[in-house]
Amino acid sequence: MANFKLGFIGAGFIAKFQAKAMAQIRDVELAGVYALKGTEELAEIAKQSDIGTCVVYDSIAELCKNVDAVAIFAPNFARIQIMTEIVEAAKAGAPLKGIICEKPLGRTVAEAQQLVDLANEAKLPTAYFENQIFMKGIRAQMEQLAPVQQSMGPMALARSAEEHAGPHEGWFWDPTQQGGGVLSDMGCHSIAVGWFVLTPIGKPVTFLEPVSVSAVTSLLKWGVPKYRKQLLERMGVDYSKTPAEDFATGMVTFKNPETGQLVQAQFTNSWMYDKQGLRLLMDGLGPGYAFEQNSLRSPLEVFIGDDAAEAVADSETALEKATASRGLLTVETNEADLYGYVDEIADAVKCFRQGKDGFLNFAYGLEVTKLCQAAYMSAEKGQTVYLNDPATQEALKTYTSLIAQGRGAEVLNVD
Ligand SMILES: NC(=O)c1ccc[n+]([C@@H]2O[C@H](COP(=O)([O-])OP(=O)(O)OC[C@H]3O[C@@H](n4cnc5c(N)ncnc54)[C@H](O)[C@@H]3O)[C@@H](O)[C@H]2O)c1
Repeated sequence: MANFKLGFIGAGFIAKFQAKAMAQIRDVELAGVYALKGTEELAEIAKQSDIGTCVVYDSIAELCKNVDAVAIFAPNFARIQIMTEIVEAAKAGAPLKGIICEKPLGRTVAEAQQLVDLANEAKLPTAYFENQIFMKGIRAQMEQLAPVQQSMGPMALARSAEEHAGPHEGWFWDPTQQGGGVLSDMGCHSIAVGWFVLTPIGKPVTFLEPVSVSAVTSLLKWGVPKYRKQLLERMGVDYSKTPAEDFATGMVTFKNPETGQLVQAQFTNSWMYDKQGLRLLMDGLGPGYAFEQNSLRSPLEVFIGDDAAEAVADSETALEKATASRGLLTVETNEADLYGYVDEIADAVKCFRQGKDGFLNFAYGLEVTKLCQAAYMSAEKGQTVYLNDPATQEALKTYTSLIAQGRGAEVLNVD
């Protein structure tokens, strides 16, 4: 079978991570890239890791003509423009078999809806990349617990957290570019994985019906003048003027449409998690059974004392968003696999070869965007938002959070 040719749009952080994931998949090659920056470096990584001859193209149209599928790995604010160009290329005859888009599908429900509509217009299969649903730990607990669930009943409570000390690029911190703060950036992961974990095994990913969302958004570290100044110097974003939340937590309630049972997914996300590095923490509780996964618990630890610390080159080779280069360090040896990137690419390629959507398609990404934006709405109102209320669904269609509008100072505590 000929290799499946993937093209990347974007050559930054996630593109490089996904390239590492591709090195672990057969029959796929990185055939090309289009981005504003970082393309030569990505092409070199592709060469070094033997995942293909990554040709650098100077337009999306040219890239689309030469690959089997494209993956949108560019910033959130560029989604609509990029997707419009992909659809134009497809209509002009580019032989695409599918389009991949990283999370979040849109910065608002309207943007996510536009992505769904554009993909439908091009009549192309889609894959929405929500990696945590592909984590081997999440899938393994489901397999282990399937027989227990059959006899005891489905899981009733899921708790999901993704936390680190803050993003690597200025645009993530700018709520008008990114679509909000940590809730828009990482809340989408935690809400999606909570929904998935609660879904009775074998049922479709949107089987459980969202009933309500109740959330809080706060600015706990990066609004404090001393850290605000650091942020301005490092990232060029002024949180005294346009702040975004660095902490968000909340609860989504779902209803099982067959039994009427209510189940809940709690989510917690922060950019103020000053521990070793990125932590993904998920647990689930059913009647008489449970699971827990913590990505900071690795079988491998290394210790680097003060005297030896000068020799450390790059702490991020041990762990994503690592904040320390000495002491007792957690090391994850295969983060691309641990976080689900390997399996999400393999799934998209397998499905696109068969002419169908990935396990998670853009329509699913739109539903996750709705939940995420309902969480902003709830935090703004200080009230639970009911998703089974048609008026709420209508309001969400045109909703942009105050934080995303650059008016975060009206709802967040800024001295
Ligand atoms: N699933 C995950 O765990 C995960 C992790 C990180 C990022 N992401 C998502 O991936 C996307 C990219 O994030 P990142 O961290 O790689 O960002 P980044 O800033 O590190 O890299 C962005 C890349 O896109 C390019 N770019 C910018 N504007 C462009 C445009 N208009 N057209 C084409 N290329 C353009 C940049 O030059 C750069 O190469 C975001 O949507 C983010 O939410 C997902």
